[in-house]
Amino acid sequence: MNILVTGAAGYIGSVCSEVLLKRGHQVIALDNLQEGHRSAVPPAATFIQGDLADRPQIEKVFSAHKIDAVMHFAGEALVAKSVREPSTFYAANVACGVNLLDAMVRHGVDKFIFSSTAATYGEPDTVPIPEDHRKAPINPYGKSKLRFEEILADYRAYTGLKYVTVRYFNAAGASADRGENHRMETHLIPRVLDTALGNLPEMEIFGFDYPTPDGTCVRDFIHVLDISDSHVLALEQIERVPGEAFNVGTTSGYSNLQVVQAAERITGRKVPHRLSPRRPGDPAILVASNEKLKRLLGWEPKHSSLEEIIQSAWDWRKRYPHGYPD
Ligand code: UFG
Repeated sequence: MNILVTGAAGYIGSVCSEVLLKRGHQVIALDNLQEGHRSAVPPAATFIQGDLADRPQIEKVFSAHKIDAVMHFAGEALVAKSVREPSTFYAANVACGVNLLDAMVRHGVDKFIFSSTAATYGEPDTVPIPEDHRKAPINPYGKSKLRFEEILADYRAYTGLKYVTVRYFNAAGASADRGENHRMETHLIPRVLDTALGNLPEMEIFGFDYPTPDGTCVRDFIHVLDISDSHVLALEQIERVPGEAFNVGTTSGYSNLQVVQAAERITGRKVPHRLSPRRPGDPAILVASNEKLKRLLGWEPKHSSLEEIIQSAWDWRKRYPHGYPD
Protein backbone atom coordinates (compact mmCIF):
# COMPACT_ATOMS: atom_id res chain seq x y z
CA MET A 1 0.00 0.00 0.00
CA ASN A 2 1.00 3.65 -0.42
CA ILE A 3 0.76 5.07 3.07
CA LEU A 4 0.85 8.73 4.02
CA VAL A 5 2.57 8.94 7.41
CA THR A 6 2.08 12.29 9.14
CA GLY A 7 4.67 13.16 11.77
CA ALA A 8 7.08 10.80 10.02
CA ALA A 9 10.14 12.67 11.31
CA GLY A 10 8.99 12.27 14.91
CA TYR A 11 9.84 9.49 17.30
CA ILE A 12 7.03 7.00 16.72
CA GLY A 13 6.26 8.09 13.14
CA SER A 14 9.85 7.53 12.01
CA VAL A 15 10.11 4.06 13.56
CA CYS A 16 6.73 3.06 12.16
CA SER A 17 7.81 4.30 8.70
CA GLU A 18 10.87 2.06 8.98
CA VAL A 19 8.67 -0.94 9.88
CA LEU A 20 6.18 -0.21 7.06
CA LEU A 21 8.99 -0.04 4.49
CA LYS A 22 10.41 -3.35 5.75
CA ARG A 23 6.95 -4.89 5.21
CA GLY A 24 6.99 -3.79 1.59
CA HIS A 25 4.73 -0.74 1.84
CA GLN A 26 5.55 2.63 0.24
CA VAL A 27 5.77 5.56 2.65
CA ILE A 28 4.98 9.19 1.86
CA ALA A 29 6.46 10.94 4.87
CA LEU A 30 4.93 14.29 5.84
CA ASP A 31 6.35 16.44 8.63
CA ASN A 32 6.71 20.16 9.34
CA LEU A 33 10.06 19.51 11.10
CA GLN A 34 9.08 21.66 14.07
CA GLU A 35 9.71 18.78 16.46
CA GLY A 36 10.82 16.08 14.06
CA HIS A 37 14.23 15.50 12.53
CA ARG A 38 14.78 15.21 8.78
CA SER A 39 17.47 12.57 9.35
CA ALA A 40 15.01 10.38 11.28
CA VAL A 41 12.96 9.82 8.10
CA PRO A 42 14.01 6.55 6.42
CA PRO A 43 15.82 7.30 3.13
CA ALA A 44 13.46 4.98 1.21
CA ALA A 45 10.43 7.15 2.10
CA THR A 46 9.30 10.07 -0.07
CA PHE A 47 9.70 13.06 2.21
CA ILE A 48 7.49 16.16 2.05
CA GLN A 49 8.00 19.07 4.42
CA GLY A 50 4.52 20.33 5.08
CA ASP A 51 2.11 21.45 7.74
CA LEU A 52 -1.37 20.11 8.38
CA ALA A 53 -2.53 23.63 9.25
CA ASP A 54 -2.06 24.50 5.55
CA ARG A 55 -5.11 23.12 3.72
CA PRO A 56 -3.92 24.04 0.17
CA GLN A 57 -0.64 22.26 0.86
CA ILE A 58 -2.41 19.10 2.06
CA GLU A 59 -4.53 19.24 -1.06
CA LYS A 60 -1.35 19.27 -3.16
CA VAL A 61 0.02 16.22 -1.35
CA PHE A 62 -3.15 14.24 -2.06
CA SER A 63 -3.23 15.42 -5.69
CA ALA A 64 0.41 14.56 -6.35
CA HIS A 65 0.47 11.09 -4.76
CA LYS A 66 -1.68 8.03 -4.96
CA ILE A 67 -2.49 7.41 -1.29
CA ASP A 68 -4.24 4.24 -0.08
CA ALA A 69 -4.16 4.88 3.66
CA VAL A 70 -3.07 7.42 6.26
CA MET A 71 -1.27 6.88 9.57
CA HIS A 72 -1.62 10.03 11.61
CA PHE A 73 1.17 10.56 14.14
CA ALA A 74 1.58 14.33 13.81
CA GLY A 75 0.47 16.31 16.82
CA GLU A 76 1.36 17.76 20.17
CA ALA A 77 2.06 15.17 22.87
CA LEU A 78 3.52 16.65 26.03
CA VAL A 79 1.15 16.52 28.97
CA ALA A 80 2.86 19.33 30.93
CA LYS A 81 2.90 21.66 27.89
CA SER A 82 -0.80 20.99 27.33
CA VAL A 83 -1.62 22.30 30.78
CA ARG A 84 0.20 25.55 29.99
CA GLU A 85 -0.90 25.93 26.35
CA PRO A 86 -4.24 24.21 25.68
CA SER A 87 -4.94 26.15 22.48
CA THR A 88 -1.80 24.75 20.82
CA PHE A 89 -3.18 21.28 21.49
CA TYR A 90 -6.68 21.89 20.15
CA ALA A 91 -5.21 23.51 17.02
CA ALA A 92 -2.69 20.73 16.35
CA ASN A 93 -4.61 17.68 17.55
CA VAL A 94 -8.13 18.62 16.50
CA ALA A 95 -8.17 21.34 13.80
CA CYS A 96 -5.17 19.98 11.83
CA GLY A 97 -6.61 16.49 12.03
CA VAL A 98 -9.89 17.72 10.53
CA ASN A 99 -7.94 19.33 7.66
CA LEU A 100 -6.37 15.95 6.99
CA LEU A 101 -9.70 14.06 7.14
CA ASP A 102 -11.31 16.52 4.74
CA ALA A 103 -8.53 16.01 2.20
CA MET A 104 -8.96 12.24 2.55
CA VAL A 105 -12.69 12.52 1.91
CA ARG A 106 -12.13 14.73 -1.16
CA HIS A 107 -9.68 12.20 -2.59
CA GLY A 108 -11.59 9.05 -1.68
CA VAL A 109 -8.96 7.78 0.78
CA ASP A 110 -10.87 5.83 3.41
CA LYS A 111 -8.32 4.05 5.65
CA PHE A 112 -6.98 5.86 8.68
CA ILE A 113 -4.95 4.81 11.73
CA PHE A 114 -4.99 7.32 14.56
CA SER A 115 -2.36 7.71 17.30
CA SER A 116 -4.30 8.26 20.49
CA THR A 117 -3.25 7.93 24.07
CA ALA A 118 -3.78 6.49 27.53
CA ALA A 119 -4.27 10.10 28.60
CA THR A 120 -7.86 9.84 27.26
CA TYR A 121 -8.79 7.77 30.34
CA GLY A 122 -7.67 10.20 33.07
CA GLU A 123 -7.33 8.70 36.54
CA PRO A 124 -8.43 5.08 36.05
CA ASP A 125 -11.04 3.39 38.26
CA THR A 126 -9.49 -0.01 37.56
CA VAL A 127 -6.13 -1.23 36.24
CA PRO A 128 -5.30 -2.77 33.85
CA ILE A 129 -7.48 -0.31 31.91
CA PRO A 130 -9.78 -1.83 29.26
CA GLU A 131 -10.70 0.20 26.15
CA ASP A 132 -14.31 0.71 27.30
CA HIS A 133 -13.19 2.31 30.57
CA ARG A 134 -14.78 5.68 31.37
CA LYS A 135 -12.97 8.52 29.55
CA ALA A 136 -12.27 11.47 31.82
CA PRO A 137 -8.99 13.04 30.71
CA ILE A 138 -7.35 15.29 33.31
CA ASN A 139 -5.24 17.38 30.94
CA PRO A 140 -5.84 19.23 27.64
CA TYR A 141 -3.62 16.74 25.81
CA GLY A 142 -5.89 13.82 26.68
CA LYS A 143 -8.99 15.94 26.01
CA SER A 144 -7.76 16.97 22.55
CA LYS A 145 -7.09 13.35 21.58
CA LEU A 146 -10.49 12.23 22.89
CA ARG A 147 -12.25 15.00 20.91
CA PHE A 148 -10.56 13.75 17.76
CA GLU A 149 -11.63 10.16 18.52
CA GLU A 150 -15.23 11.45 18.66
CA ILE A 151 -14.79 13.34 15.40
CA LEU A 152 -13.55 10.15 13.75
CA ALA A 153 -16.76 8.37 14.73
CA ASP A 154 -18.74 11.15 13.02
CA TYR A 155 -16.67 10.89 9.85
CA ARG A 156 -17.27 7.16 9.86
CA ALA A 157 -21.02 7.68 10.15
CA TYR A 158 -21.23 10.39 7.48
CA THR A 159 -18.44 9.58 5.03
CA GLY A 160 -17.79 5.86 5.45
CA LEU A 161 -14.26 6.45 6.77
CA LYS A 162 -12.66 3.24 8.06
CA TYR A 163 -10.42 4.02 10.97
CA VAL A 164 -8.72 2.36 13.91
CA THR A 165 -7.63 4.22 17.04
CA VAL A 166 -4.49 3.05 18.80
CA ARG A 167 -4.12 4.30 22.37
CA TYR A 168 -0.49 4.16 23.43
CA PHE A 169 0.61 3.93 26.99
CA ASN A 170 4.22 5.08 27.52
CA ALA A 171 6.14 4.75 24.27
CA ALA A 172 9.81 4.01 24.87
CA GLY A 173 12.83 2.16 23.46
CA ALA A 174 14.49 2.43 20.05
CA SER A 175 15.11 0.51 16.86
CA ALA A 176 18.74 0.08 15.84
CA ASP A 177 18.64 3.32 13.82
CA ARG A 178 15.87 5.45 15.30
CA GLY A 179 15.17 6.60 18.84
CA GLU A 180 13.60 9.21 21.04
CA ASN A 181 15.05 12.68 20.59
CA HIS A 182 12.74 15.56 21.41
CA ARG A 183 14.11 19.08 21.16
CA MET A 184 12.86 19.79 24.67
CA GLU A 185 13.12 16.39 26.31
CA THR A 186 10.65 15.88 29.15
CA HIS A 187 10.10 12.09 29.01
CA LEU A 188 11.27 9.91 31.83
CA ILE A 189 13.50 7.32 30.14
CA PRO A 190 15.45 9.74 27.88
CA ARG A 191 16.03 12.03 30.85
CA VAL A 192 17.18 9.12 33.00
CA LEU A 193 19.64 8.10 30.26
CA ASP A 194 20.83 11.68 29.73
CA THR A 195 21.57 11.81 33.44
CA ALA A 196 23.42 8.47 33.26
CA LEU A 197 25.48 9.91 30.37
CA GLY A 198 26.33 13.01 32.39
CA ASN A 199 24.45 15.35 29.99
CA LEU A 200 22.30 16.30 32.99
CA PRO A 201 23.92 16.59 36.44
CA GLU A 202 20.80 15.40 38.24
CA MET A 203 17.16 14.72 37.44
CA GLU A 204 13.93 15.28 39.27
CA ILE A 205 11.34 12.62 40.05
CA PHE A 206 8.02 14.41 40.07
CA GLY A 207 5.81 13.37 42.97
CA PHE A 208 6.52 10.97 45.83
CA ASP A 209 3.15 11.00 47.57
CA TYR A 210 1.02 9.19 44.98
CA PRO A 211 -1.11 6.23 46.14
CA THR A 212 1.40 3.73 44.69
CA PRO A 213 3.77 1.25 46.40
CA ASP A 214 6.76 3.64 46.51
CA GLY A 215 4.81 6.92 46.16
CA THR A 216 6.02 7.67 42.60
CA CYS A 217 3.86 7.39 39.47
CA VAL A 218 3.42 4.02 37.77
CA ARG A 219 3.53 3.71 33.97
CA ASP A 220 3.21 0.94 31.40
CA PHE A 221 6.19 1.24 29.03
CA ILE A 222 5.71 -0.13 25.56
CA HIS A 223 8.48 -0.55 23.00
CA VAL A 224 8.15 1.65 19.93
CA LEU A 225 8.64 -1.41 17.68
CA ASP A 226 5.65 -3.12 19.35
CA ILE A 227 3.62 0.06 18.84
CA SER A 228 4.63 0.05 15.17
CA ASP A 229 3.54 -3.58 14.84
CA SER A 230 0.11 -2.69 16.25
CA HIS A 231 -0.27 -0.04 13.53
CA VAL A 232 0.69 -2.41 10.75
CA LEU A 233 -1.70 -5.10 12.04
CA ALA A 234 -4.51 -2.57 12.40
CA LEU A 235 -4.07 -1.31 8.86
CA GLU A 236 -3.75 -4.73 7.32
CA GLN A 237 -6.96 -5.90 9.06
CA ILE A 238 -8.92 -2.65 9.02
CA GLU A 239 -11.84 -4.14 7.06
CA ARG A 240 -12.57 -6.44 10.05
CA VAL A 241 -12.27 -3.81 12.79
CA PRO A 242 -13.34 -0.39 11.49
CA GLY A 243 -14.12 2.11 14.23
CA GLU A 244 -12.40 0.08 16.96
CA ALA A 245 -9.98 1.44 19.56
CA PHE A 246 -7.08 -0.63 20.91
CA ASN A 247 -4.78 -0.05 23.86
CA VAL A 248 -1.11 -0.73 23.25
CA GLY A 249 0.61 -1.60 26.49
CA THR A 250 2.02 -4.57 28.37
CA THR A 251 -0.30 -4.90 31.45
CA SER A 252 2.80 -4.34 33.67
CA GLY A 253 3.46 -1.08 35.45
CA TYR A 254 6.76 0.26 36.78
CA SER A 255 7.22 3.16 39.13
CA ASN A 256 9.44 6.07 38.23
CA LEU A 257 11.92 4.96 40.90
CA GLN A 258 11.93 1.40 39.53
CA VAL A 259 12.82 2.83 36.10
CA VAL A 260 15.74 4.77 37.61
CA GLN A 261 16.98 1.64 39.38
CA ALA A 262 16.65 -0.52 36.23
CA ALA A 263 18.55 2.11 34.21
CA GLU A 264 21.36 2.19 36.80
CA ARG A 265 21.63 -1.61 36.55
CA ILE A 266 21.57 -1.70 32.74
CA THR A 267 23.92 1.23 32.12
CA GLY A 268 26.23 0.45 35.04
CA ARG A 269 26.13 4.17 35.87
CA LYS A 270 24.63 6.27 38.63
CA VAL A 271 21.53 8.33 37.93
CA PRO A 272 21.57 11.14 40.51
CA HIS A 273 18.00 12.18 41.24
CA ARG A 274 15.93 14.04 43.76
CA LEU A 275 12.28 13.81 44.69
CA SER A 276 10.31 16.91 43.68
CA PRO A 277 6.68 18.05 43.86
CA ARG A 278 4.10 16.54 41.50
CA ARG A 279 3.99 17.65 37.85
CA PRO A 280 0.52 19.05 36.97
CA GLY A 281 -1.58 16.76 34.79
CA ASP A 282 0.05 13.44 35.77
CA PRO A 283 -2.27 10.57 36.74
CA ALA A 284 -0.90 8.26 39.46
CA ILE A 285 -1.16 4.98 37.55
CA LEU A 286 -1.60 4.11 33.86
CA VAL A 287 -1.46 0.42 32.99
CA ALA A 288 -3.12 -1.09 29.91
CA SER A 289 -5.20 -4.12 29.34
CA ASN A 290 -4.00 -5.43 25.96
CA GLU A 291 -6.39 -8.36 25.72
CA LYS A 292 -8.41 -6.80 22.87
CA LEU A 293 -5.37 -6.09 20.71
CA LYS A 294 -4.12 -9.65 21.17
CA ARG A 295 -7.52 -11.25 20.59
CA LEU A 296 -8.74 -9.23 17.59
CA LEU A 297 -5.50 -8.39 15.78
CA GLY A 298 -3.16 -11.19 16.89
CA TRP A 299 -0.65 -8.71 18.35
CA GLU A 300 2.00 -9.86 20.84
CA PRO A 301 4.56 -7.60 22.50
CA LYS A 302 8.00 -8.84 21.41
CA HIS A 303 10.36 -6.14 22.70
CA SER A 304 8.64 -4.63 25.72
CA SER A 305 10.40 -6.04 28.78
CA LEU A 306 11.64 -3.02 30.76
CA GLU A 307 15.14 -4.49 30.27
CA GLU A 308 14.96 -4.48 26.46
CA ILE A 309 13.28 -1.07 26.36
CA ILE A 310 15.99 0.59 28.42
CA GLN A 311 18.83 -1.36 26.77
CA SER A 312 17.67 -0.39 23.26
CA ALA A 313 17.18 3.26 24.25
CA TRP A 314 20.63 3.25 25.87
CA ASP A 315 22.31 1.69 22.82
CA TRP A 316 20.72 4.34 20.59
CA ARG A 317 21.60 7.17 22.95
CA LYS A 318 25.25 6.08 23.14
CA ARG A 319 25.34 6.11 19.33
CA TYR A 320 23.77 9.58 19.23
CA PRO A 321 24.67 11.15 22.61
CA HIS A 322 23.43 14.53 21.41
CA GLY A 323 20.53 13.18 19.36
CA TYR A 324 20.06 13.37 15.59
CA PRO A 325 22.61 15.56 13.77
CA ASP A 326 19.87 18.00 12.70
N1 UFG B 1 8.96 12.10 35.14
C1 UFG B 1 9.82 12.44 36.14
N2 UFG B 1 10.95 13.16 35.83
C2 UFG B 1 11.23 13.55 34.56
C3 UFG B 1 10.32 13.18 33.52
C4 UFG B 1 9.19 12.47 33.86
O1 UFG B 1 9.60 12.12 37.30
O2 UFG B 1 12.26 14.21 34.35
C5 UFG B 1 7.76 11.32 35.47
C6 UFG B 1 6.45 12.00 35.15
O3 UFG B 1 6.11 12.93 36.15
C7 UFG B 1 5.53 10.80 35.05
C8 UFG B 1 6.43 9.71 34.46
O4 UFG B 1 7.76 10.14 34.71
O5 UFG B 1 5.16 10.42 36.33
C9 UFG B 1 6.26 9.52 32.99
O6 UFG B 1 6.37 10.79 32.37
P1 UFG B 1 6.63 10.99 30.82
O7 UFG B 1 6.75 12.46 30.61
O8 UFG B 1 7.76 10.13 30.39
O9 UFG B 1 5.35 10.41 30.15
P2 UFG B 1 3.81 10.77 30.44
O10 UFG B 1 3.26 9.65 31.26
O11 UFG B 1 3.61 12.13 30.94
O12 UFG B 1 3.20 10.85 29.00
C10 UFG B 1 3.50 9.94 28.04
C11 UFG B 1 3.36 10.61 26.68
C12 UFG B 1 1.93 10.90 26.41
C13 UFG B 1 1.04 9.74 26.70
C14 UFG B 1 1.26 9.24 28.08
C15 UFG B 1 0.38 8.06 28.36
O13 UFG B 1 4.09 11.82 26.63
O14 UFG B 1 1.83 11.24 25.05
O15 UFG B 1 2.63 8.88 28.19
O16 UFG B 1 0.77 7.44 29.53
F1 UFG B 1 -0.25 10.10 26.62
